[in-house]
Amino acid sequence: MVVEPKVRGFICITAHPEGCKENVRRQIEYAKAQEKKETPKKVLVIGCSTGYGLASRISAAYIGGADTLGVMFEKESNGKRTATPGLYNTRAFEEFAKQDGLYAKSINGDAFSKEIKDEVIETIKNDMGKVDMVIYSLAAPRRTMADGTVYQSSLKTTGEDFTQKSWNLENDTICEATIPSATAEEIEGTVKVMGGEDWVDWIEALKSADVLADNAITVAYSYIGPELTYPVYYHGTIGKAKDHLYESSKKINDQFDGVKAYISVNKALVTQASSAIPIVPLYFSILYKVMKAKNIHEGCIEQMARLFTEKLFNGSVPVDEKGMIRLDDWEMREDVQSEVMDIWGKINSDNIKELADIDGYWSDFFNMFGFKIDGVDYTKDVDIM
Ligand code: NAI
Repeated sequence: MVVEPKVRGFICITAHPEGCKENVRRQIEYAKAQEKKETPKKVLVIGCSTGYGLASRISAAYIGGADTLGVMFEKESNGKRTATPGLYNTRAFEEFAKQDGLYAKSINGDAFSKEIKDEVIETIKNDMGKVDMVIYSLAAPRRTMADGTVYQSSLKTTGEDFTQKSWNLENDTICEATIPSATAEEIEGTVKVMGGEDWVDWIEALKSADVLADNAITVAYSYIGPELTYPVYYHGTIGKAKDHLYESSKKINDQFDGVKAYISVNKALVTQASSAIPIVPLYFSILYKVMKAKNIHEGCIEQMARLFTEKLFNGSVPVDEKGMIRLDDWEMREDVQSEVMDIWGKINSDNIKELADIDGYWSDFFNMFGFKIDGVDYTKDVDIM
């Protein structure tokens, strides 16, 4: 069937298998071209199928030559509806990795559940022995607990309602958006879903099953951003969850001998998770404009390749005063932020196309679903199964 993009709000409900494959192939090419580093050889990636997790998996495999086991939560095609992009990305990654002599297996299911943790442990025992790196890159809307309780994650501010300029993605105009303040329950839900409790559970489960190698490392991803987005992010519900994630990294370091946990603060990038956050897309598109003009723009694969080659496996690990790796170092550069703020003050519906990288944003958005990728023939029938 011929597959076309169908955009609904901040999501595209179709995905193109060939486009997703090409996207993965390009990321692999980028990783292959990087300087080879001595990195972990058996890597578990939780949230492996899109965004930062997929780029981490590709970096582990193609910069370090690692065998990888991935966990994801994606929908298969039913023959009429396409699969989700993460499913196609993962099938493509597995195919490339196997061609290149690397072990790559993926488990599709709820990473929060005990069943999936048990299945991962069994797979490690049978196929890998032990893992020496665990990448925790989940971005989930909800979490179901063992007793059936469901927690929802929300994207709200804390304290007062917050109103700021926003980009109306439907007609490329500037409007105002108000983000309501979260209730205590919504904050708690977001912390349960996007905080570090499940990360600690994973490390505990792997450690007690003796499938974690000595001196294993584990990394989870966070975001801080500029003051402008603090009410939405850093001081929002998601920021509270990221505080919990940070505390969880300390807990892992204190509680588990022979495991070193890191938080890497990454750059703001268009992914399925981040495009759902209000106000943020306008910041992204201005940031892209400024960083591209300075030739320092990076996507997920460039960020993760830099994490591997310059931060985690380049001798000692450079961290900030709180012990976090700062991959947002270029985004947060003084010159970058002052230009972004200057544009933020001036931007309106008349000049948005000139002052913000609207095309770059949309290109990243469609690329995530395998669309608008050069070299892919979208008029051809493709097998969506
Ligand atoms: P994404 O939406 O591209 O990826 C999420 C991954 O989690 C996918 O592989 C998905 O299948 C998996 N997943 C979701 N629910 C699951 C479940 N219940 N069980 C198993 N797998 C599940 O998101 P993105 O943006 O790559 O986010 C990854 C991490 O990076 C998050 O912690 C996010 O907060 C963080 N981050 C993202 C930034 C951004 O601008 N996109 C910036 C800095 C940090």
